[in-house]
Amino acid sequence: MVGANVNGQPWRDDQGNLIQAHGGSILHYAGDYYWYGEDKGVANVEGTSRVPFVGISCYRSTDLLTWQRIGDVLTAANDPSQQVQAESIVERPKVLFNALTKQFVMWCHFDTPDYGFAGCLVATATQPTGPFTVQQILRPNNFDSRDMTLFEENGQAYLVHSANMNKTLYVANLTPDYLGLTGEVRKLFIDQEREAPVIFHEGEWYFTITSGTTGWRPNPALFSRSHFLVANQKLIDNPCQGPKKATTYDGQPTFGFKYQGQWYLLLDHWQREDLQHSGYSILPIEIHGRDLVVPWVDQPLQRNTAANG
Ligand code: GAL
Repeated sequence: MVGANVNGQPWRDDQGNLIQAHGGSILHYAGDYYWYGEDKGVANVEGTSRVPFVGISCYRSTDLLTWQRIGDVLTAANDPSQQVQAESIVERPKVLFNALTKQFVMWCHFDTPDYGFAGCLVATATQPTGPFTVQQILRPNNFDSRDMTLFEENGQAYLVHSANMNKTLYVANLTPDYLGLTGEVRKLFIDQEREAPVIFHEGEWYFTITSGTTGWRPNPALFSRSHFLVANQKLIDNPCQGPKKATTYDGQPTFGFKYQGQWYLLLDHWQREDLQHSGYSILPIEIHGRDLVVPWVDQPLQRNTAANG
């Protein structure tokens, strides 16, 4: 019997093994949830805050609490051009199902060990459980790209990436097959240095939650809102509460998702000197009219019962 996972700590899968799905995202497909993330299941390279590239992992769940490890769905061996190597940085995988091509399309941050390349890796699979084959490695629209996410609405998908040396978030339209870029780009939070972008649409608002740019060290999250995804987004406030507000509960956002009518935020709790033991949490995102609150709760998916009193 595997004990329940606790927010802020490393988590275990249904076999009792550490879940290696850092910088992750969740895809809901055909009744199941697929969590893709960075498999960092080896020791840090001596004296550094990085691990060699092990793979992009996939875990499956029906309740978002118990996770079955599928395995690494993208490894260096899935790259026909062999640009992906053990020393490569492959981070923050996001997967969309493309209804036109019936392919699962993954975009990741792809980089050299010094984070100097600053691009994206695009890979595809015919099943959510992979394997994913690398299609291309690119700098989107010839801009630099580090932390990133995908956002899709009504078949139009966007790559949202930290660009201009992490100063500004760019929103780049994807082609209908999600494999490339149309060239259309808009800018959010010019010179505000935001990363770890989370984007979601609820009612009349498009919200974002982002972190500042302090590497593995935590900093205050901020939310923004606008009636439009790509216009008028203004940074408003930190949605966290209490004594650990200034460090986002010692975490960094990685993904937002809706489950049973409630929005949730998936966070990483990085251990920079021992990355494989970094923790996770899933916290509720409460929408109070135009404002967001992300309260701390001890159990993943727990609602903030205190707020209802
Ligand atoms: C963070 C980023 C992580 C990782 C890290 C490396 O700012 O959010 O995904 O790239 O830097 O230092």
